[in-house]
Amino acid sequence: MKNTLALTLAAVLALGVSVTTTTRAQDAGKVDFEKQVLPILKESCFKCHVKEHEDNGKMKKPKGGLRLDSAAAIIKGGKEKPDENVVAGKPDASWLVKSMALPDTDDLAMPPEGKGDRVTPANIDLIKKWITEGANFGAWKGVE
Ligand code: HEC
Repeated sequence: MKNTLALTLAAVLALGVSVTTTTRAQDAGKVDFEKQVLPILKESCFKCHVKEHEDNGKMKKPKGGLRLDSAAAIIKGGKEKPDENVVAGKPDASWLVKSMALPDTDDLAMPPEGKGDRVTPANIDLIKKWITEGANFGAWKGVE
């Protein structure tokens, strides 16, 4: 009797676990902006593309008028390519990732030549995937 109870319990637990894993598996295939994309932008782009701030007594403005530290700003884009920084569903039309993939010598290659390491192809693919999936920021809003 004890054994049957234990078995039933084990079966119920196993079922519970498998249900949770299936729901997670659906999300698991999708790129999580805050966990996976934001760290890349922080590492390679935040030096020049965040809200105006004071640094060593000097005011630093976002380069090209482009801020990457808030969801709204990422969508808004910069001076030259407004509304084309991130075009949901269209990585090939999105300068955020196009700029990373350009050859070093191109004027719009980001980070600019000599100003930081290029983003790795794997990370570029990850950001492309995030854009293809609809460029969803989840709960992340960033700096106002
Ligand atoms: C060392 C400074 C620096 C870093 C780091 C940097 N950028 Fe830039 N970025 C610039 C400057 C300067 C411009 C203005 C255009 C120019 O002069 O090339 C610019 C412009 C841009 C533009 C065009 C904005 C517009 O609409 O005019 C995009 C897109 C961009 N950067 C994306 C990025 C991304 C993505 C990263 C990180 C991979 C990055 N940048 C890292 C300096 C930087």
